[in-house]
Amino acid sequence: MQHFIEFRNVSFRYREDHPWVLKNVSFHIGSNEWLAIIGHNGSGKSTIAKLMNGLLLPQTGEIFVDGMPVNENTIWDVRKTVGMVFQNPDNQFVGTTVRDDVAFGMENHGLPREVMLKRIEESLQAVGMSEYERHEPHRLSGGQKQRVAIASVLAVSPELIILDEATAMLDPRGRREIMETIREVQRKRSLSLITITHDLNEVTQADRVIVMNEGETWMEGVPRDIFAQKDALQDIGLDTPFVTKLAAELSGAGLAMQREPLNHQELLEDLWTLHSKM
Ligand SMILES: Nc1ncnc2c1ncn2[C@@H]1O[C@H](COP(=O)(O)OP(=O)(O)OP(=O)(O)O)[C@@H](O)[C@H]1O
Ligand SMILES: [Mg+2]
Repeated sequence: MQHFIEFRNVSFRYREDHPWVLKNVSFHIGSNEWLAIIGHNGSGKSTIAKLMNGLLLPQTGEIFVDGMPVNENTIWDVRKTVGMVFQNPDNQFVGTTVRDDVAFGMENHGLPREVMLKRIEESLQAVGMSEYERHEPHRLSGGQKQRVAIASVLAVSPELIILDEATAMLDPRGRREIMETIREVQRKRSLSLITITHDLNEVTQADRVIVMNEGETWMEGVPRDIFAQKDALQDIGLDTPFVTKLAAELSGAGLAMQREPLNHQELLEDLWTLHSKM
């Protein structure tokens, strides 16, 4: 598999007299892969995101984006390739209308006007914000601002999208809708996707999960294997999805499943299988 992003022994600290925030971190992401990063507050997740598009540069180790080493000379190419949406949408607005704002990200890329207009329309529609095209961004609700921030990134059409708690402000339904939209775009354009989130149900849908703990990659694997480590996760302050917990309770009561169910559908299937054997 071709590695789209690679971290090689990356260590980072914000200042020389500060402790290391990332310690010898190595991992990679394939093209078209969805990677979820989880970990306790302060474990280094957002720092990883900022290193990926050159907002920060590591003191030791190397980072490659689509084969390019990330450094001062490549930063502008890297930023065309990596689109990022952060937790706090208020810091991300520059335009006086929603439409200007979505256009802004594209302006640096020298796209023809017709292409820009089409992309504004498509990306606002994708996040359900078409009616707000002429509105002032700062008057929108938190969730609406986040949708616009996501539309701005989609419009640029990057090859990797990083969502750093970007859906945290939405209600569960809004979050599900946005994630479905992003997944659709991801499949259509074969993007890589990194989500940093505390929403465990979302994590169960990712292709692969990295668990960060105190600046180190503590565990890496498919969601089912990660959430099977319930006790170990608890030890480092992380919860497991509701269905995982329920399955453990049922298993304690004598209803042991053959696998670790990850969602309601799987849990139901497993219960039916058990039931038919009774
Ligand atoms: N600009 C900064 N200057 C100094 N220290 C910082 C800065 N930003 C983050 N840190 C520190 O670096 C560590 C890692 O922070 P980071 O934001 O990467 O964690 P995180 O996993 O994203 O946490 P959260 O879940 O709260 O978003 C923390 O100890 C934090 O206090
Ligand atoms: Mg963070």
